[in-house]
Order: sequence, then structure tokens, then C-alpha cells
Amino acid sequence: MSKKVLIQTFGCQMNEYDTELIRSILMKVGYVFVEDELSADIVMLNTCAVRENAHRKVYGRIHEIRHNRKKKDGGSVMIGILGCMATNLRTDLLEDKNLKIDFIAGPDSYKRLPDLIRPTSAEFENKPFDVTLSEFETYSDIYPSRKNRVNAWIAVMRGCNNFCTFCVVPYTRGRERSRSPENVVEEAKKLADEGFKQITLLGQNVNSYNYEKYDFAYLMEQVSKVNGIERIRFTSPHPKDFPEKFLELMAHNPKICKQIHLPLQSGNSRVLDMMERTYSQKEFLHLVDKIRKYCPTIALSTDIIIGFPTETDEEFEDTYKVMKEVKFDSAYIFKYSERQNTIAARKFPDDVSEESKTERIVRLNVLQKDISLRKNEAHVGEIHNILIEEIDTEHVRGRTDGNKLVTLPSQNYALGDFVKTKITYGSPYSLKGVPST
Ligand code: SAH
Ligand code: SF4
Ligand code: F3S
Repeated sequence: MSKKVLIQTFGCQMNEYDTELIRSILMKVGYVFVEDELSADIVMLNTCAVRENAHRKVYGRIHEIRHNRKKKDGGSVMIGILGCMATNLRTDLLEDKNLKIDFIAGPDSYKRLPDLIRPTSAEFENKPFDVTLSEFETYSDIYPSRKNRVNAWIAVMRGCNNFCTFCVVPYTRGRERSRSPENVVEEAKKLADEGFKQITLLGQNVNSYNYEKYDFAYLMEQVSKVNGIERIRFTSPHPKDFPEKFLELMAHNPKICKQIHLPLQSGNSRVLDMMERTYSQKEFLHLVDKIRKYCPTIALSTDIIIGFPTETDEEFEDTYKVMKEVKFDSAYIFKYSERQNTIAARKFPDDVSEESKTERIVRLNVLQKDISLRKNEAHVGEIHNILIEEIDTEHVRGRTDGNKLVTLPSQNYALGDFVKTKITYGSPYSLKGVPST
């Protein structure tokens, strides 16, 4: 009988994408995926290591899985750890006898999962793990098993060479490598044939995509030529890689959505320098102006870290000021969390008090909530083209070109329909609308 696998995903979109790859790899060799934890023979946790709370969640989950199974029938279940914690904490995970992890696979080792789950060779005996990072693995020969039928993610590059001092990702996912444009376009065509309407190009540093002489602008343009794909998005870009040529393409290509997730991290130039983000406050603001000049309707979102080592109250005020000035449509705001092995962990003590961090994050969240509300309220009365992504009995939900979620009353819509919608209401997090005639 086929073994039943439950896979639970933590962390970012890249991990969600990797879960789709893993499903595909294991289904090919006969595994079946289930949603119910208690009927699974194997539970895999595709983990994140980016902040302390991501870590804690996984440890909590491992104990919970063992406990639930004991309570059910006194039995046991195989547990595998995949993803960024696997690379980051391999030794800790294996040596912790309380956790009893059965196998471990890092982000570049998923093709070896069938061997790791059922170790047959002496190579893995007693220690089925593989967390080797590769300079080449892009999984370009694996067609992910996708659940969403409207938007398809395609990882066009993996890894990161930036080494922002706070960040664990370059250590957990290794160096940058890109897939060939032909390979990406081929996948986009196949997706269009299957009825997908939107593609989101994905990478830790997506706009530093580089394959031989081809850059990210070239790739986007090629993907936009695929018939049937109506919308193209990308995430996450780094502010350092926005040549005019790319902005020009964005401005003039109707398929490229007018939306950018543009991580600022801090609004203070000294802190940005310590983070090794490679831009100053002034340069970031200049980039925002330039983007808005090319694409006046652009929707911008961002990531912020507050309480980076040595950040003073005055320096935090710079972040506050930049957020007030730029007026992002939305923002993910995080407290600095020291990560093992990062440059910041080695060089700078985590010296901003928890109290100050809390005070700063609360203030920024209040500011951002107000900005998001005003931005969304300003859409009321406008007509937007909504791509329907979710349908239930009373409502359908879809997104604007700017990636804002809109709820509409249910009618005879199908997933993947475009509906001309008049926006009637805006909250800080979403919009409501009615079909426009
Ligand atoms: N590659 C992406 C983001 C990766 S992590 C990029 O460069 O944009 C997502 C976000 O987590 C980061 O943008 C940052 O804001 C946050 N983050 C990363 N490391 C962190 C840390 N040590 N403490 C707090 N937040 C962190
Ligand atoms: Fe981390 Fe910086 Fe790379 Fe983003 S660009 S993954 S924040 S090191
Ligand atoms: Fe987390 Fe790894 Fe993504 S650390 S944010 S799952 S790249």
C-alpha cells in the first residue's frame, strides 16, 4: 500500500513552491499526500529559520505531532525536517534525542528524498540526512504539483549572494543560480495550456536573475509573450537591481502588474550600512520616485526590521519618517531577531531592549494601518479588473492589478475569470466591490 504523507509548510513563498516540487518528486515514486495528520505515515515539516518565532513554531509542532499520535493509538509516525532549519540546525536536530527526527533534507536535496525516507544504502544508515547546498540545483526538470489553479509560482532563481548582515537565508539556501529563459518560458506555456492566468516569478533576489547574457528584464519580456498568461508578478526584488530598462518594460508592458514588493528594512542610512543593504535612505527614496515616475499607479509594499543592533530612538524616527513619506500600500514589520552564524550575530550584540522593540513596532504598525486604510479608501469608486482566485457560496475573491484582495458577491463566476469591478469599500487590509456594468 502507498505510504501517506502530510507536508506542512512554514516560511516564505519559496518554501511553498518547494513543497509543490516535493509533492511532485514523491508522487512519481508512489507516495500519496494527505491532509489528515493522524492518518499519515510520514509527516514532513518544510521549515523556516528566518526569525526566532519561526524556529519555535517548528519545535512546538514536532512535540505536538508525537503527542497526538500517542494519544490516538500509542503508535508512532515518521517525522522529516526539510527546508531552511534543516540546513541551519542539522546537528542540533539530529543530536536532540527528544525530537527523534527520522530524516533531514535541505533545500537543494529534495531529489534525494525517496532515498532519505527509506534509506537502502549504507551511506545513510542511522543518519538519513542531506543538507548539502548546490551551486547548480534549480529543479528545472521538475514540474511542480500545484494546488492553486489561477496563479502559478515559478522559481526562476534560487539562493542569495547578498549577505545582508541580519539574514540567515544565504546560509540556508546557498549561492545564487538561475534557470535558462527557455526553460522558464516552456513551463509558462505549459501552465497557460492548463488554464493558468497569472504567473509569479519567484526568487530570494528575483531581479538579480542572470543566465548567461540574459537578465531579469529579458526574462520578464519573454514570459509576457506567452499567450494565455494575462498577468505577471515577481517577488522579492532587491532595491539594488532596478535598471531603467526594467522600469521602462514594466511601464509599457500591460501584462506586468503594477506592483512591487520593495524591502526597505530601515530608513536610517547608518543602520542600512550596518545591514549591508547597499543603499542609503536617499537612494531608496530616489528609487521610489523613479518607479513612480515610470508607473504612477504602482502599488508598493515593503519589509521593515526594527531594533537592529545599536539602532537609537532617533534612527528609528528615520524609518518612521520614510514610511510616512513613501506611503507603502502595505508593510511587514519585524522585530530584529538574532540568527546564529549571521554576520550581525558575530559582530553586533542584540542590544536594543525588548521594550523599545515593542514600542517601535507598535508605533509603525499604527502608522502603516492608517496609511493602508487611506490608500484603500482612495480606491472607492474606481473600476478595477479583478482576477477571481477563490469562490465560496456567498462571495468570490480576487485581486486587482496592484495585488489588493477584493471580495465580491457571488455570481456565476469561474476561477480565472476577469471581472470589471467597482470598488465600494476599503479597509486597511482589503477591498469590497460590485460588478460594474
Ligand atoms: N529575500 C527577501 C527576503 C527574505 S526574508 C528580500 O531580500 O527581500 C523576508 C524578510 O524577513 C526580510 O525582508 C526581513 O525584513 C525579515 N528578516 C530577515 N532576517 C531577519 C532577522 N534576523 N530578524 C528580523 N527580521 C528578519
Ligand atoms: Fe536575506 Fe538580504 Fe538575501 Fe534578502 S537579499 S535573502 S534579506 S541576505
Ligand atoms: Fe524562511 Fe527560508 Fe524563506 S528562512 S523566509 S523559508 S528562505
